[in-house]
Amino acid sequence: MNNAYDHLRLDGKHALVCGASKGIGRATAILLASRGAEVSLLARSVDSLEELAADLSAAGGTARVISADLDDRQALGEVIDDLIANAPTIQILINNSGGPPGGPLLAAETSAMEIALGRHLFCSHLLVQKLLPGMREGGYGRIINVLSTSVREPIPNLGVSNLTRASVASWAKTLSSELPPGVTINNVLPGFTDTERLGSLGAATADRLGKSVDDVRSGWIAQIPEGRLAQPEETAEAIAFLASPAAAYIRGHSIPVDGGRLKSI
Ligand SMILES: NC(=O)c1ccc[n+]([C@@H]2O[C@H](COP(=O)([O-])OP(=O)(O)OC[C@H]3O[C@@H](n4cnc5c(N)ncnc54)[C@H](OP(=O)(O)O)[C@@H]3O)[C@@H](O)[C@H]2O)c1
Repeated sequence: MNNAYDHLRLDGKHALVCGASKGIGRATAILLASRGAEVSLLARSVDSLEELAADLSAAGGTARVISADLDDRQALGEVIDDLIANAPTIQILINNSGGPPGGPLLAAETSAMEIALGRHLFCSHLLVQKLLPGMREGGYGRIINVLSTSVREPIPNLGVSNLTRASVASWAKTLSSELPPGVTINNVLPGFTDTERLGSLGAATADRLGKSVDDVRSGWIAQIPEGRLAQPEETAEAIAFLASPAAAYIRGHSIPVDGGRLKSI
């Protein structure tokens, strides 16, 4: 019998989750698998991925590990071709990777911009081009990009990240009118989320401002109406929703998961 939550299920779908070894990507892979998706887990830390894949398999899911460095597009293309040769239809693509280092934009080398655009924009483009034929043929595709609230309001001292996220958001919006019916693309914009990435940003900010890490975190929390940092599982909920049949008519949009921190409408 159908129930109200069937439209969130992902049985029979295959998801490629980039940056799946830690943080938001890992939480997303776990949630997608719990909703019935087969998951392909991509990152550089193969040991962590193997451990996660074993846990997911023990829980009755199907998971495979893809060792790839998103800073090497040539190698990425080759491993994705291998994946497609074994699993031609991957309906769900989660574009997610490690954020660029902090610092003011004025001080940034163009080489840092090239690395960030390569990892976040060019890799996402390559993956869409490779996976789209399968999505089109099956009439179902969900592309979800994990960006940042900086798409709406640039964040001080994250210069390279700000420009990279804006580029990806513009790329996604453009594609949203080019992709065929049934294949959607959307962005999730995490706010302050308690992951390794936030830990290193907290340490760098504390160092820069001569404050303690606790003071930096308290300063962040003071900006959040919900009064706390997000857990990666909460961001994953938005991603899994966008990946599901329930989100079929949401296309070309950005959804913040920020506890109400953004001030813009
Ligand atoms: N946490 C936050 O508060 C927050 C807020 C706004 C936006 N974001 C953004 O959301 C995204 C995810 O954040 P997070 O906090 O989950 O980050 P995280 O904990 O640092 O995890 C990043 C993931 O990306 C993978 N990765 C990094 N560089 C890679 C590369 N060159 N090739 C392949 N995989 C790579 C990492 O795996 P390996 O190291 O194993 O490769 C890891 O699985 C990032 O872009 C981040 O900047 C985060």
